[in-house]
Amino acid sequence: MKVLITGGAGYIGSTIATALIEAGHAPVLLDSLVRGRREFASGLPLYVGDVGDPQTVRRVFSEHPDIACTVHCAALAVVGESVSDPISYYESNVTASLRFFETLLEVGRPSVIFSSSASVYAPNETFEVTEESPLAPASPYAWTKRMTEQMLTDVAAATALRAISLRYFNPVGADPTGRTGPYDPRPTHVLGRMLAVAQGDLPEFVITGTDLPTPDGTGIRDYLHVWDLARAHVAAVERFDAVLEAEGAPSAVLNLGTGSGVSVRELVDTFERVSGRPLPVREGAPRPGDAVGAYANVDKAQKLLGWRATSSLDDALRSAIEWAGRWRAATSA
Ligand SMILES: NC(=O)c1ccc[n+]([C@@H]2O[C@H](COP(=O)([O-])OP(=O)(O)OC[C@H]3O[C@@H](n4cnc5c(N)ncnc54)[C@H](O)[C@@H]3O)[C@@H](O)[C@H]2O)c1
Repeated sequence: MKVLITGGAGYIGSTIATALIEAGHAPVLLDSLVRGRREFASGLPLYVGDVGDPQTVRRVFSEHPDIACTVHCAALAVVGESVSDPISYYESNVTASLRFFETLLEVGRPSVIFSSSASVYAPNETFEVTEESPLAPASPYAWTKRMTEQMLTDVAAATALRAISLRYFNPVGADPTGRTGPYDPRPTHVLGRMLAVAQGDLPEFVITGTDLPTPDGTGIRDYLHVWDLARAHVAAVERFDAVLEAEGAPSAVLNLGTGSGVSVRELVDTFERVSGRPLPVREGAPRPGDAVGAYANVDKAQKLLGWRATSSLDDALRSAIEWAGRWRAATSA
């Protein structure tokens, strides 16, 4: 099947491209390169442009009329940046997405798998969230994800558009083929900052928030190997109609996580064990927009996609550490 991946030169989109190729599908990429890396699109058809530009999107579909569905990963995706620059986030993630969905309807290919986020959930006492759990986006970034989900629900109810929103928990690690992985030289995610410390780029790892309402006071996340996440997209592409049929609706929402919560302190311990070295750690204040955290109930994804995460946290961290070393060598050469 031919599949358009927006944001296909980014971390997750490029990994999805590899997983689709391995499963015998043919990805086509659309990316503005505002982030991402051109070399992550190497060997694949890449259109450089904005998803909100109808002319570019029309060109993609006129040159690839056999694209069956779109995985819509394109977005700005740094929580702290969304707090300081909300206009860019609403513009890129909401306004451009709406234009994009409109153009997909116009070209007659309105099947969308959308990269949403666990950041839409409200904190709860058990930390486990199902797709029905209360929502409370805590940052402009999280609001852009929630608003886009709602746009998809409303547009799907009124038009031929069909949509599956996948709420990613915390993707880590790299594509096992070594093709692509995390590339941000100033990562804000917790594991990226640990790797920066381990590589000597930061003096210490700061635990941002040690007094949170969690068992050990630090944030809870559900760290999912990006390869497991990418495989879930292959299942979503292949079972697109069956998922919506089972849902009995023109749109659906599914959690993608491992089903286990890990605190930041537990992540530090695992990182030290897997890397074989101690990590200098300091305790600090929470960052604006950061959530206390949650882990996914993944029953729905298991049932509808026939998918579950199979990698352990150790595997995911090993993959992240190995990739970070290779990426550093390649980009500093
Ligand atoms: N990485 C995570 O922890 C995480 C967690 C949950 C959800 N997500 C979502 O997954 C998706 C991919 O995230 P990522 O980590 O790969 O980020 P990324 O920044 O590596 O990839 C996003 C890509 O989208 C492109 N892009 C941004 N705006 C665009 C636009 N208007 N038109 C065309 N291209 C555009 C960028 O150039 C970049 O290559 C995003 O939608 C993000 O919100 C990511």
